[in-house]
Amino acid sequence: MQKRVALSELNPAKRKNHLILVKHLKPRQNPTMHSLFPKTIGAKQGQTLHIDVATPEDAEEIIDYTNRVGGESDFLTFGKDEFWATPDGERAFIRAMQENPKSLMLKGSIHGKIVSILTLNATDRPRIAHVAEMGISVSADHWRSGVGRLMCVASIEWAKYAGLRKINLRVREDNLRAIAMYEGLSFIHEGISQRAYLVNGRYYADRLMGLALD
Ligand SMILES: CC(C)(COP(=O)(O)OP(=O)(O)OC[C@H]1O[C@@H](n2cnc3c(N)ncnc32)[C@H](O)[C@@H]1OP(=O)(O)O)[C@@H](O)C(=O)NCCC(=O)NCCS
Repeated sequence: MQKRVALSELNPAKRKNHLILVKHLKPRQNPTMHSLFPKTIGAKQGQTLHIDVATPEDAEEIIDYTNRVGGESDFLTFGKDEFWATPDGERAFIRAMQENPKSLMLKGSIHGKIVSILTLNATDRPRIAHVAEMGISVSADHWRSGVGRLMCVASIEWAKYAGLRKINLRVREDNLRAIAMYEGLSFIHEGISQRAYLVNGRYYADRLMGLALD
């Protein structure tokens, strides 16, 4: 067996070669788990936002959170208590997100409580594997505190490391505050999808927005 030698024991020339070798051999780490998260950032009003990758252990809190925020605006694809996930189903979903190197589920917490969830969903089909679809919500008691923007910025940074080249999203045409947020993040308007929502007997169009990551 080869004797292990401490780096400090090598002479400077050998040490340099050793470092070059180590650099080449080291696998590229998955940024999801290793370098970018958890992340702690100051939000507005002196609050501290803790951003981390969601894990299967978060499933029940995420279901409660999602059922609640569904009732806080008319802009999600479900209303209050219409997020019909079971704990086992949600755990499986989170696990699948973790296993796909180009998908991400982020939770934003303040004082240990989830106040935001963001997903980037990608597929492994070669011709569209460079694209992820973004979805985000923030709990109403934290709107306008900078949480939504901080979550988006963190996910965009991750997406670049993950090798994604495009983020797409759909936003209801009358969701002006979300559209303002996406525009502020340099998303551009790419089109309209008619009759995307049917809420209380009324149709709403979706605006398609996209961000190229070059
Ligand atoms: C849209 C949403 C995610 C924004 O999150 P947020 O944490 O309140 O947003 P931020 O405080 O980070 O604000 C980011 C930007 O959004 C825009 N914005 C947010 N709230 C706004 C409001 N009430 N009026 C006008 N602009 C607003 C602004 O451009 C703001 O930037 P600024 O503070 O520099 O002016 C949040 O309102 C939400 O979850 N809404 C319900 C669900 C939803 O609409 N999700 C998006 C579906 S596509």
